[in-house]
Amino acid sequence: MAVIGDKVVRALNQQLNREIYSAYLYLSMSAYFESIGLKGFAGWMRAQWHEELMHAMKFFDYISSRGGRVELFAIEEPPKSWESPLSAFEHALEHEMKVTKLIDELVDLAIVEKDHATFNMLQWFVGEQVEEEKTFREIVERLKMLKDEKSALFLLDAELGQRKFGGEE
Ligand SMILES: [Fe+2]
Ligand SMILES: [Fe+2]
Repeated sequence: MAVIGDKVVRALNQQLNREIYSAYLYLSMSAYFESIGLKGFAGWMRAQWHEELMHAMKFFDYISSRGGRVELFAIEEPPKSWESPLSAFEHALEHEMKVTKLIDELVDLAIVEKDHATFNMLQWFVGEQVEEEKTFREIVERLKMLKDEKSALFLLDAELGQRKFGGEE
């Protein structure tokens, strides 16, 4: 089997770092939601932190399995607070859209480098990003609908608090 190219390894290591940043961003959002008494939102973001770490580990394991060297870089500091639950989720959706673009660029690189195995591995992330954007967009829409209705916000909080983590999705 051909050894994985340096360019591809570098790009995969960068994406591994960005997945950890995603995890860090959502953990920061979890802390923000805790601080404003929205325990359900906080738990939901905590599950999202786990999911992003799982994404990072997919890159970690894939790089190793192809004989590449995993390298860990400094993780950027995430913002600490947001104006409202809506602005936090709008930020998260924007972030996911940025990640989608990065994954697309990785796919482009795999094509240019004729790296079919990496191309194949990345297809999982292409599908996953569609799901991620959909999930965040739905919550943004619901937050927009309830505006300043406190009782509706607490209902949504209870609903989001149902999310379990540890599973694949
Ligand atoms: Fe991710
Ligand atoms: Fe994500």
